[in-house]
Amino acid sequence: MRPRVTVYEVGPRDGLQNEAARVPTEGKLRLIAALAEAGLTRIEATSFVSPSWIPQLADAAEVTAALPRRLGVGYVVLVPNARGLARLLEALARAPGGPPVAAAVFLSASESHNRKNVNKSVEETFAAFAEVVPPARAAGLAVRGYVSTVFGCPYEGAVDPGRAAAVALRLLDLGCEQVSLGDTIGVGTPTQVRAVLRRLLPAVPAARLALHLHDTRGTALANALAGLEEGITTFDASVGGLGGCPYAPGASGNLATEDLVYLLHGMGYDTGVDFDRLVQAGALAQRLTGRELPGRALRAALSTNPEG
Ligand code: HMG
Ligand code: MG
Repeated sequence: MRPRVTVYEVGPRDGLQNEAARVPTEGKLRLIAALAEAGLTRIEATSFVSPSWIPQLADAAEVTAALPRRLGVGYVVLVPNARGLARLLEALARAPGGPPVAAAVFLSASESHNRKNVNKSVEETFAAFAEVVPPARAAGLAVRGYVSTVFGCPYEGAVDPGRAAAVALRLLDLGCEQVSLGDTIGVGTPTQVRAVLRRLLPAVPAARLALHLHDTRGTALANALAGLEEGITTFDASVGGLGGCPYAPGASGNLATEDLVYLLHGMGYDTGVDFDRLVQAGALAQRLTGRELPGRALRAALSTNPEG
């Protein structure tokens, strides 16, 4: 049997939160459906953050209430605080019998990025999560956690791996099922990935950790490979390499889903993803955003068949 890796798709959320083009709700739902049809089973669909901070995702309730049902596919949405959770629960109540939806909370390993991103200190953010994670779980939702700036901060530079690991452990203790370690601005190298993972893996099962890599400096696939070799089996990626964090100057695209899937399949891993259908989803993402996306495996595939 081939070893299994979960590719966790963040394009509709991490990708679209950072696009200048406003994709209409119906276009977002078409993209989400195309990603699910390509075999992605974990799709981050939107964010219940403040619409004045992230106007691109102001239609979070409409997207959530209309998520396509597909066997084996579950969705995740970002929730920064109690207000976000209330909005999510309202949206779910509007669509009884819909597909499974989990919540994700996020904070940074570095104070300055955390303050720019959510207007709070790290401690204040943990206090806000106490009003999100236990109530979300009590409402039957699974919760994921994100640590941003694990390998470097756009405002503070280097981040102590011990600090990043400690923030991840607190999220797990709070009740997050899985914590994703974010290279928000794409500065990490395999040596750093191994250093943080080696602090966590003796205490935490590998399945409770994920890597969320951005490809700003071309190190994302190398970092994913380091993670694979350390035993990580969930990797976040974004269709076409869409993405970034609007509150992290210099952040560019996420690791492209096509690049990751190409690498994994070539190395004999099973992802459940149909590469050709994934390319079709990437072609759709390009049409919806009106720009050529940076993912290299996508561009290579489209250069021989422009329709995907
Ligand atoms: P704030 O302005 O400090 O909030 O924002 P507040 O609590 O003071 O409230 C101010 C107003 O906003 C109030 O309305 C609230 O009701 C409203 P008013 O009473 O003035 O009319 N409000 C909300 N409205 C809708 N939904 C909400 C919400 N909360 C408050 N949830 C807040 C604090 C956290 C809301 C804001 O800073 C925010 O939305 N930040 C989000 C930034 C963001 O989304 N960043 C990108 C996602 S993180 C990321 O991309 C990194 C990741 O990919 C991993 C990686 O790459 O590292 C995950
Ligand atoms: Mg990100």
